[in-house]
This record gives sequence, structure tokens and C-alpha cells, in this order.
Amino acid sequence: MLNKIIAIAQEAGRILLDTSQVSVTAKDGVGNFVTDCDVRVQKLIYARLRELCPGASFIGEEDARHDAVPAGACFVVDPIDGTQNFINGYRHSCVSIGLLQDGSPKLGVVYDPYQDDLFYAQRGKGAFWNGHPLRASEKPLSQSVVLFGTSSYDRALTDLTFRLLRAIFDQALDLRSSGSAALDICYVASARCNVFFEYHLEPWDYCAAALILEEAGGRITQIGGQPLDFLQGGSVLAAGPYSYGTVLELAQNLSK
Ligand code: IPD
Ligand code: CA
Ligand code: CA
Repeated sequence: MLNKIIAIAQEAGRILLDTSQVSVTAKDGVGNFVTDCDVRVQKLIYARLRELCPGASFIGEEDARHDAVPAGACFVVDPIDGTQNFINGYRHSCVSIGLLQDGSPKLGVVYDPYQDDLFYAQRGKGAFWNGHPLRASEKPLSQSVVLFGTSSYDRALTDLTFRLLRAIFDQALDLRSSGSAALDICYVASARCNVFFEYHLEPWDYCAAALILEEAGGRITQIGGQPLDFLQGGSVLAAGPYSYGTVLELAQNLSK
């Protein structure tokens, strides 16, 4: 099953590499776009997963419905995470396929075709990058580079985002913003960076990567410390085990 899902993510990733002309449509909010390629890739992934696992249900960004996550197997798919990067030729986007079993992540595959970076995990079996085991960094915040997303389509979150960012920056080494939340979380899992946060994401942004990070020994919750919401989406704080608590406390102090 894992190898077949990896092959599907890689086949989808090749479409990103081979596509140069896209037609872009605006969605709700600032900077929220979909291309004909997002839709094509999602259709391909659905068709392949349906062949592989006919009984499973699907949640995907390009036909998003916030129904209850059904019991049993449910694939959660972001055909292109990093659409803005993809449109601009920034070459930092990925395909993300998560599998929930009764609402909890059981398998995750995130594939960046530009770097040929394949991140994957199965519950209880560890996390891997291109076949090598992953371990999140054990550095404290003072030795950390921190990734963040702005939820740019929801400007009501801007002030909060930049207040937390300022509080973190004062204690960390430096900041980065990449435009792909799924890759950001995988970068925390692989200790390329040590913290990621964003005040609103959707389940397809983090379903697969959350399991990869947990299996790599990292922590991932909402920014208030609550478990992730795989139904409605919500905030995300992802970090190595020794920086997570410090950022959580900074975020809690902001809301006092
Ligand atoms: C977006 C990316 C981005 C994050 C946005 C997401 P999309 O997903 O993950 O990094 O900041 O909040 O919506 O639209 O490129 O699939
Ligand atoms: Ca996304
Ligand atoms: Ca997307």
C-alpha cells in the first residue's frame, strides 16, 4: 500500500514538472488561487487511489467539503501544496496524500518533485526521507530557524501572526517563509528547520505531514496546544521536542 501511494505521488509530481502553462482562477480571500493543473492532478490521484482502495472516501482541496470525516479509511489530498509558488515558477511545491483511519492519520506521503524529496511515514513505523530515517531536531528555540505561514487569504489573522512572529524572532536564530505548509512541516521533521506555525490551515495542508513529524519525534498541535482538527482545519504549531513548549508559551502569553 505505502509503495503504491508513493508511486501515485511521484506520478502526480511529474505533472508539476512537465507543466509550464497554467490557467489560474481566483478563490475566496487574498492570494488564494487554483490552476487547471491542481484540478488535473487531484483527478489523477483520486482515480489511482480509487483503484487501489475502492472502499475509501476522499477529502481534497479542489472539491472541498467539510462533512464529517467518515469512519474507516479516508484519503486527504492536496494535489499541489504551494500553488502560488507553482504559478510563479518558484519551484517549491509538493503533492500531499494522507490517509486517516477513523479520523486519525495512519499514513502520509509528501513529494516535492523539484528536489526529488520524498517524505513518508506509517503510524508506528517511523518517518523517512528518500529511504533515510528522519529525526526532528532537539535544539531549543534559541538555536532554531523558524518557518511560518501568513494565512494570507484571511487578513483578520495578520496581526496575531506578526505579533507571535516578533515574539519568536526575539528568541530564535532567524525566520523563513516558504509557501508550502506541507513541506514546512516535513522540514521540521527532517531538522532542516525547527519550528513552523500558521494561524489557519486546512486538513489537506497538514494531514500527511503531521504524521511524518510525529513519527520523526516532533510535536504538532494547534497553536493553543489542542489536538489538530482533521475535520475543519485550524491553527498549526509544529516543532522539535525541545522548542515546542517555548513557542506554545509565547503564543499563550500573546492572548493574555
Ligand atoms: C497554501 C500553502 C501555504 C500556506 C497557505 C496554504 P495551497 O496551500 O500551504 O504555505 O501559507 O495557508 O493555503 O493553497 O498552496 O495549497
Ligand atoms: Ca495547501
Ligand atoms: Ca493546494
